[in-house]
Amino acid sequence: MKICVLNGSPKIKENSVTMHYLMYLQKKLPEASFNILNVANMVNRLEQDPGAYQEVMSSISNSDGIIWGFPLYYLLVSSQMKRFIELVAERKSEPAFHAKPAAAITTSIHFCDNYALKYIREVSEDLGMKFFDAYSAGMYDLNNAQERDRLEAFARNFLDFVKQGSAVPPQTLPLVYRPIELDLSSKPAANRPTGKKAVIITDEREEDRNLRAMTAYLKSAFGDQADVVNLRSIKINGGCLGCLHCGYDFTCVYDGKDEYRSVFEARISPADMIILAGSIHDRFFSAKWKQFFDRSFFHNHTPMLEGKQVGIVISGPFRQMGNLRMLLQNYFEVQKANLVDMVSDDYPEVEPVLAGLRNLADRMRSLAEQNYRAPQTFLGIAGHKVFRDAIFGGLRFPFVRDYLHYKKSGGFDFPHRNWKNIFLSGIMMLLTRIPNMREEIYTKRLISGMTNPLKKIVEQEKALDE
Ligand SMILES: Cc1cc2nc3c(=O)[nH]c(=O)nc-3n(C[C@H](O)[C@H](O)[C@H](O)COP(=O)(O)O)c2cc1C
Repeated sequence: MKICVLNGSPKIKENSVTMHYLMYLQKKLPEASFNILNVANMVNRLEQDPGAYQEVMSSISNSDGIIWGFPLYYLLVSSQMKRFIELVAERKSEPAFHAKPAAAITTSIHFCDNYALKYIREVSEDLGMKFFDAYSAGMYDLNNAQERDRLEAFARNFLDFVKQGSAVPPQTLPLVYRPIELDLSSKPAANRPTGKKAVIITDEREEDRNLRAMTAYLKSAFGDQADVVNLRSIKINGGCLGCLHCGYDFTCVYDGKDEYRSVFEARISPADMIILAGSIHDRFFSAKWKQFFDRSFFHNHTPMLEGKQVGIVISGPFRQMGNLRMLLQNYFEVQKANLVDMVSDDYPEVEPVLAGLRNLADRMRSLAEQNYRAPQTFLGIAGHKVFRDAIFGGLRFPFVRDYLHYKKSGGFDFPHRNWKNIFLSGIMMLLTRIPNMREEIYTKRLISGMTNPLKKIVEQEKALDE
């Protein structure tokens, strides 16, 4: 049985954590032959050399099944793998993938792996593949015998699935997008000036008419004072290589060689309001946008957008893309930014789009003046805890700068340091061992115990009003 493994790590298989999981499986499952293709590492060549691209497509066509093997990169696949997926669509190579059984094996620290797993299923099903399942391994799981068994069971089940040629109904609904035409010259009423700085980051090209119209409209709404950074006109030499040089002191191997860091530090970091603008390419923004996210890894796991107001402007079928919406909310919550709204052109009329853009600009300006940040939901709180535990534990080295930041800023906020709570809970747990006390506490005192401290605050406030 021929299995084609599409390696989504920017690193070649010998240097990739993820590919060691696949090389392990090859040893365990000699009945299948695993052909590992470093598609992310060689994506520039695949773009420029039609022969090399054709060779990859032939390997895919001639295989019995495909495994997308990739590391999590910023809640998704790496920008290099994203570009590979885009090339397939641009070059109309979908037939090579059609009806192939597919699975995904990914490694990560489980930070937002759910979005990447959903993304790769959506992409596979859009390509007409029969998607079996996705397996999310922790990056060091291979050291553990139980985890190795679990991984092997997953792979064996996949091979059975390939052998049996089982049919699976797709979970993904195809995207439907009938773009309206926005007028490039529409302008909102002029807004009063504000002392707050705005930057619009976009990847628009000449042909992205609606995106251009939306960013132009927003720029006017910010009194033409917003800076505009077009990712396609700044020099970015490549995607994140996963080399981790940045771990010690945030130094990136691209520093001084391209403009990414200088643009980030001079034009994006000082802004109070940041608008991200992009078009939908497959189930995310473009690979260019993904490159922008991935390269921000020079700042490791330390939030870099804290306190900023963020707006997102999207051209494409965004209202049908729940996974992307949630991914964005999760990312900005963990960044401790305030995600104000996400506006798309996915409407049958122009008016809701313009109203959405007007509201977005007004709310961003007003919230920036109030320094408002919405409370984090589960997404931000859970994300922080995954990072906190990783930086305190297994990732303390090599992420030295992260560790110092978390230590200094109170990021290691483990509940076992809440001595008052530990002490009071201890006493209450002792008391509940006495049956009469237990009865009294659970039937008469618990509810009032929860609301009494709040009542006090409300009553104090009333007193101030009077
Ligand atoms: C740029 C970058 C972004 C990453 N983003 C995530 C992430 O969003 N979630 C996560 O759990 N791990 C993330 N990681 C960790 C990698 O997924 C993990 O180290 C993986 O095992 C690396 O595999 P590889 O050696 O095959 O590239 C990221 C690593 C890098 C370098």
